[in-house]
Amino acid sequence: MLWTRLISRLFKEAKPYLQVRDDFKHARISHQYALLLMGHEQGDKKIVEPAVILHDVGWSCLDLQQIAQAYGVRAGGLEAMELNRIHEVQGALIARRILQALDYDAVSTDQITRIVERHDSGTEIATVEEGLVKDADKLWRFSQIGFWKEVERQQVGAEELYRHLDKHLRTWFFSLTARELAEKELRRRAQEMHQVRLGPVRDPCS
Ligand SMILES: [Fe+2]
Ligand SMILES: [Fe+2]
Repeated sequence: MLWTRLISRLFKEAKPYLQVRDDFKHARISHQYALLLMGHEQGDKKIVEPAVILHDVGWSCLDLQQIAQAYGVRAGGLEAMELNRIHEVQGALIARRILQALDYDAVSTDQITRIVERHDSGTEIATVEEGLVKDADKLWRFSQIGFWKEVERQQVGAEELYRHLDKHLRTWFFSLTARELAEKELRRRAQEMHQVRLGPVRDPCS
C-alpha cells in the first residue's frame, strides 16, 4: 500500500475511537508536528506516524467523566493515574488490532504498540521514535487550536492553562526542536490572551 494511502487509512480506522474525547483534530495536529519534528530530529516514519495517529484511541474505553478525571491541568492523584493508564493500555490493544488488520509488519507493530502503551507515562524514553511521539502529542496543547480547545474542554481559564504549560515547558520535551517550537507557540498564545483581555479594537471615528 502506498504510504500516503496507509496514513489516510489509519486516520479512518482511528476516527471512531477518537470520537469520545473529540480527538480527531488532536491526532491530525500531533501528526503534523511529528512530521515537522522528523524533519529535524530524524526517526523512523514507519513507527512515528502510526504511533502518533493511534496514540489516543484508548480514550474510547472510558466515559467523559472518567476522562475529565484522568486528564488535564487539574487531574491528579492515584485514580487519575489509573484511569490514564487504562487509555494507554487499552489504546495499545486497539492499535495492535488495527495494524494487524492492515497486515502491518509485526516488528513495527510491536514497537508502535509499545509507544502507545507508554505515551503519557514515564519520564524516560526507549527510542528516538518514542520521544518524537511524546513531543508531538504534548505540542498540541501549545498550538493555537489545541490551546483554546483545552481551555474549553477542561473548563479552565486561559491564564491557568498558560501557567501550567509554562511550568512544564522545560521538563516535558525530549527534543530541542519540540521545546523551541513550544516556546514559540506559547509566546503566540500570550499575545492572543492579551488581545482577548483588550477586546475588539474600537474605531475612534465612530
Ligand atoms: Fe493520551
Ligand atoms: Fe494525546
